[in-house]
Amino acid sequence: MKKRILTGITTTGIPHIGNYIGAIRPAIEMTKNSDESFFFLADYHSIIKNQDPDSIKDSVKNIALAWLSSGLDPKKSYFYKQSDVPEIIELCWILNCVTAKGLMNRAHAYKAATSNNENDPDKGITMGLFSYPVLMAADILMFDSTHVPVGSDQVQHLEMTRDIAARFNHLYKPLLTLPEPIIQDKENVVPGLDGRKMSKSYGNVIPLLESESILKKSIMKIVTNSLEPGDPKDSKDCTIFNLYKNFAEETEIKSLQKAYDDGIAWGEAKQLLFNVINTELEPVRSKLEELKEDNDFINDLLSDGAKKARIIAKDKISQIKEVIGITQIS
Ligand code: TRP
Repeated sequence: MKKRILTGITTTGIPHIGNYIGAIRPAIEMTKNSDESFFFLADYHSIIKNQDPDSIKDSVKNIALAWLSSGLDPKKSYFYKQSDVPEIIELCWILNCVTAKGLMNRAHAYKAATSNNENDPDKGITMGLFSYPVLMAADILMFDSTHVPVGSDQVQHLEMTRDIAARFNHLYKPLLTLPEPIIQDKENVVPGLDGRKMSKSYGNVIPLLESESILKKSIMKIVTNSLEPGDPKDSKDCTIFNLYKNFAEETEIKSLQKAYDDGIAWGEAKQLLFNVINTELEPVRSKLEELKEDNDFINDLLSDGAKKARIIAKDKISQIKEVIGITQIS
């Protein structure tokens, strides 16, 4: 059976190198074989934590640009905004009605949000945050996705999706496909400027769509230890080295290892890192320049993507409504 790969990108913040290595680049790679692929901008997920309309709009545009500039071919995949496929929200409600509240109580993201609350456990918790995994399940189940590339922080959401689908299938009819996660960062957690996982919430990101000089400034900010030039350096757990490995050829990696043994200066190692990242990002940047001003082009492309996706979604939602009894009077 053909694989159907689907993944969503929450539209908050600016796209960074961690998104590129961990999600964008491997996803684009996957579109090159015969599987079907669905990539969407999870804008309804983004309003859960961000209530600033301008920043949502900016982020939707920038994330769309990041995918397209990085080489996503919208003809080879379904590329759309979640909000342009309203059937997902219909399915979300239907799934809410078969999802146990107790299952949602166990969600890591929800538990983390309540963990600092002292007197009122519900302080700052919206229903959107609480039922976040149900919307994610709707995204996935809407299209009978078989494989879902995600970061390891999302694995629990995939398990919940499977639970919810199994519950629906048991109550009604086996209409929903149970998806498998493809864990993107199993061996490769992309480190940020401070060595922790690169993440917008840690403020340690290297931006993807900025100019050469901003990229360079950002790389120069990577935190290193105080070893002097001439001192042999350890490449293991070294942020510069780990990032380098994601962009360099095998022979370049070997020669950087040798340079570490020989005591390369941190400044020089950063320059080498800048060179490999910059070389890979040059075509991305020129594509970006082409697309950046053409809002109509991007809007048309997303709207075509949604049209294509809705052909599948409409058919699915009508089957689902039929089995739950939301149908014509007969
Ligand atoms: N929750 C995911 C994240 O923050 C984004 C997302 C939304 C998603 N819906 C999805 C990922 C469906 C995979 C499938 O990373």
